[in-house]
Amino acid sequence: MRKKIVAGNWKMNLTKRDALSLYQEISQKSADITNVEMLVFSPLLFLDALKQEENKRLKIGAQNFFYEPSGAFTGEVSHSQLKDLGILNVLVGHSERRMVFKEDDTIIRSKVDAAIAAEMNIIYCCGEPLEIRESDQHIAYVIDQMKNTIFHLKEADFQQIVIAYEPIWAIGTGKTATPDQAEEMHEQIRKALSERYSETLSEKVTILYGGSCNPKNAAELFAKPNIDGGLIGGASLKADDFIEIAKSY
Ligand code: PGA
Repeated sequence: MRKKIVAGNWKMNLTKRDALSLYQEISQKSADITNVEMLVFSPLLFLDALKQEENKRLKIGAQNFFYEPSGAFTGEVSHSQLKDLGILNVLVGHSERRMVFKEDDTIIRSKVDAAIAAEMNIIYCCGEPLEIRESDQHIAYVIDQMKNTIFHLKEADFQQIVIAYEPIWAIGTGKTATPDQAEEMHEQIRKALSERYSETLSEKVTILYGGSCNPKNAAELFAKPNIDGGLIGGASLKADDFIEIAKSY
């Protein structure tokens, strides 16, 4: 049985007070959810305060970090500094980091390596832009992203990796991939893992879908055999919506 996960990506939203109260509200209202692991990726600024509140039911993660442990990197926060706060979950390769902050495969690979070495858990994001989907190149594109940034890892390293397929055209647009479109990609990701590593590994890795996932479409997406949960942006900012998504399993 693969681990089911529903993770919230709060992005650059909320004040400290709102983040703490959203965390508490989700924790309280999700107390009866036991079949799905839940976590939220908060802005770095609130992690220390949230960590004081953290309970087993709702883990906390960081949306970003730099791959060097310390040094002259103005404005950055390292994986070592996160670990010092007890933060063990990180996002890597989100399309907003790739596009807005120009993180290329070399940077993403360095972040993956640093987080693996630091024994952190990674949600590794991949996904194609609209023009690639429209030219029917989406599968090759996403598999290439994986080849360039995670396929150098050892099979055992995948105990620390969850993959999130997030088509860029679906992120924050209200235009969700259909369950069949998402399932097709998840199946291909699993096939690539099987060819590169082993069938056993490909069956073990949790693969999430992300991109305008909401309480209305979550159940249909999660019903697909290769979709093991979701990475939720906008809808994770409302406790009731986020919980309803988690309850869609
Ligand atoms: P969205 O974002 O749910 O708002 O589309 C998903 C994500 O970027 O992780």
